[in-house]
Amino acid sequence: MKKAMVFGASGQLGVEIGKVIEARGYETMRFDRKQVDIADTRQVEEAVSAFDPSLVFNCAAYNQVDLAESEPQAALASNALGVRNLALACRQNDATLVHFSTDYVFDGTAGRPYVETDATHPLGAYAVSKRTGELFVKAYLDRALIVRTSGVFGPAGVRSNRGNFVELMLRLANSGQPIRVVEDHVASPTYAPFLAEKSVELALAGASGIFHVGGGSAVSWFDFARMIFDAAGLTPVLTPTNEREYRTPARRPKFSALENARMQAFGIAPMPPLREALDLYMSARLQFLM
Ligand SMILES: NC(=O)c1ccc[n+]([C@@H]2O[C@H](COP(=O)([O-])OP(=O)(O)OC[C@H]3O[C@@H](n4cnc5c(N)ncnc54)[C@H](OP(=O)(O)O)[C@@H]3O)[C@@H](O)[C@H]2O)c1
Repeated sequence: MKKAMVFGASGQLGVEIGKVIEARGYETMRFDRKQVDIADTRQVEEAVSAFDPSLVFNCAAYNQVDLAESEPQAALASNALGVRNLALACRQNDATLVHFSTDYVFDGTAGRPYVETDATHPLGAYAVSKRTGELFVKAYLDRALIVRTSGVFGPAGVRSNRGNFVELMLRLANSGQPIRVVEDHVASPTYAPFLAEKSVELALAGASGIFHVGGGSAVSWFDFARMIFDAAGLTPVLTPTNEREYRTPARRPKFSALENARMQAFGIAPMPPLREALDLYMSARLQFLM
């Protein structure tokens, strides 16, 4: 039986990748951070050589974009050095690495959805750490797959440390406070189960290099919040704000939507509509609340 490993297995994407790859008939080993910290070279080497997988999915990541500005070492440990550890272990064991990266490698000035060949220009510590992870993958492996995605939301976010934007909006709405969301930042919110399906399809079809797999719609965070409340049947007081009024420690790209054309040219079906993803999310999250 073919074997796959999933690191960062309890995160939003890790949970879904584990399910999808197992359903494809792979004997699957999952590791959350307590079991294997990818920043620990020895733990990674031992885990990979003991199981000897053909596929390794790295879903582990330090994703706290603002906090990374005050603790860049922590971001680099997971997102750069941890990825280096996995890349080296994959090379040592002839395994294919599937690694996930972010729309934040771009500076958001293109004014159109980003394609894989666009120049990168990370704007902060998190973004630099993720771009460095990509470079380590490319430095050590010729046939690895790097999937860049954007604004991930998956049902495991209900109980993960970091959560996701949908959970944040639902929490704020339930607290009865007025809600302000930026309307001048646009991304491609991506449903983790769809991202997992597409990424596994790409990996099993032998794709290598960089692929963009975003949610398929470029929307502002304000419009996404509106869609969330509509899907949840909630009517909080929601007003738009902007980057100037709502300052954050980290700079973020203003327009970081991803173009999925390369994925589609590879024979993978387009992402389902964002509203469909939200409806699925609303029912799937209930299982994680129990
Ligand atoms: N979430 C987004 O909006 C977003 C946007 C663009 C790209 N991405 C990328 O998409 C991928 C999946 O993200 P996600 O949303 O599934 O993230 P997530 O829900 O935050 O899950 C990440 C998981 O990685 C674990 N982790 C962090 N550092 C680790 C380490 N050193 N060793 C082992 N595990 C570690 C975390 O554990 P702890 O919780 O214990 O730290 C968490 O379980 C990542 O590559 C991320 O950078 C995400």
